[in-house]
Amino acid sequence: MFVVVGVSGGIAAYKTVQVVRALVTNGHEVHVVPTENSLRFVGTATWEAISRHPVTTSVHDDVAEVRHVALGTQADLVIVAPATANTLAKMAAGISDNLLGVTLLATTAPVVVAPAMHTAMWDHAATQANIATLRSRGVHIVGPADGLLTGGDSGPGRMVEPDEIVAAALAAAGAPASDLAELRVAVSTGGTREPIDPVRFLGNRSSGKQGVAVALAAADRGAYVHLVAAHVDDGVLDRALHHPRIAVERAVTAVEMDAAMRAASTEADVVVMAAAVADFSVPEVSDVKIRKEDGTVTLDLVENPDVLIGLVRARHPGQTIVGFAAETAADDAELRERGIRKRARKGVDLLAVNRVGWQEGFETAENRVLFVDATDEVASQASGTKRVVADALWDAVLRLR
Ligand code: CTP
Repeated sequence: MFVVVGVSGGIAAYKTVQVVRALVTNGHEVHVVPTENSLRFVGTATWEAISRHPVTTSVHDDVAEVRHVALGTQADLVIVAPATANTLAKMAAGISDNLLGVTLLATTAPVVVAPAMHTAMWDHAATQANIATLRSRGVHIVGPADGLLTGGDSGPGRMVEPDEIVAAALAAAGAPASDLAELRVAVSTGGTREPIDPVRFLGNRSSGKQGVAVALAAADRGAYVHLVAAHVDDGVLDRALHHPRIAVERAVTAVEMDAAMRAASTEADVVVMAAAVADFSVPEVSDVKIRKEDGTVTLDLVENPDVLIGLVRARHPGQTIVGFAAETAADDAELRERGIRKRARKGVDLLAVNRVGWQEGFETAENRVLFVDATDEVASQASGTKRVVADALWDAVLRLR
């Protein structure tokens, strides 16, 4: 999940470091938005090191990219911890004179707030009215706890402990249960590149986004993932490289992909071939750059191993194998027919059939997929972001197992 953690100016900010650390360790992408005042308690360097992302308090950075709105719109979850009486009042009034205020106005994600202040301030009618307003808008309020406060007083006002904030936040975001816990999964992604000479290759338009989304969804749901990545677009692997339950291995050509996936699959309960494997390669790669003056060039191509068919042949008992099919089809009926035939030919348990064309399927964030199983029926369908499709794939796998 993409999580924004807002930090306002209270001494409890030091405990929020643990909140950010726990979220990052669980594979979430965390962006910290401190208020200016909070930096007196915990500084930018700490937030950047713990969250592994740059931190700014300014609404005026990256104006061209509307960064001030982007954080809020991208967020799957926003946490404000600690939330001071001042920040709660601003939230209730919709004041957006800093990056946190803007982010909170721009987001439609669940918002979880952990108040921290002196008991007298918490008990004040103004604060209580603000809390009631926020609750009525669906904001989740966790705490405050009753206990010892800074300065030796005691009473309600203490920020709840980090693990309680994390649990409340994940519950509010409807984080999927760990329904793939302990499952070992091998996933391939990206497009293989078959060299022609030292500067050229045969490749394809695969960005790797769908396969990486499949890996992240599995890992977020508790699985251990071995991700074999061919060529992917810039930045696509970033979250996977930091995920504690994903090991990333690179493979360039179909032959390398074949070897890597065979090895990864020996230990896997579920195998997903989402990579776009080139069907052909050049048998004799030229050691020198082929030149124009060589005249017309004819490339002989030989067929590559079909990685998926090899994995199906080597399948061990209890292993579930999933393939992808990228098809150009005139309509849904043709897409379905092609999917049913390809599933049977490949012998997989589940085939995710994806309609592609010049405008569809590649390099986009959105995707639409039919899942065909061994009954040769469309078991389910999914459309939406590649993450939505990925979660639907794992739901379909769970139904088969
Ligand atoms: N695949 C593979 N090895 C290949 C080609 C494809 O493992 N050499 C896998 C892909 O990863 C995908 C599935 O097979 O999971 C289907 O890929 P697709 O390109 O649609 O199938 P092809 O067998 O190449 O069939 P077509 O004749 O339609 O191109």
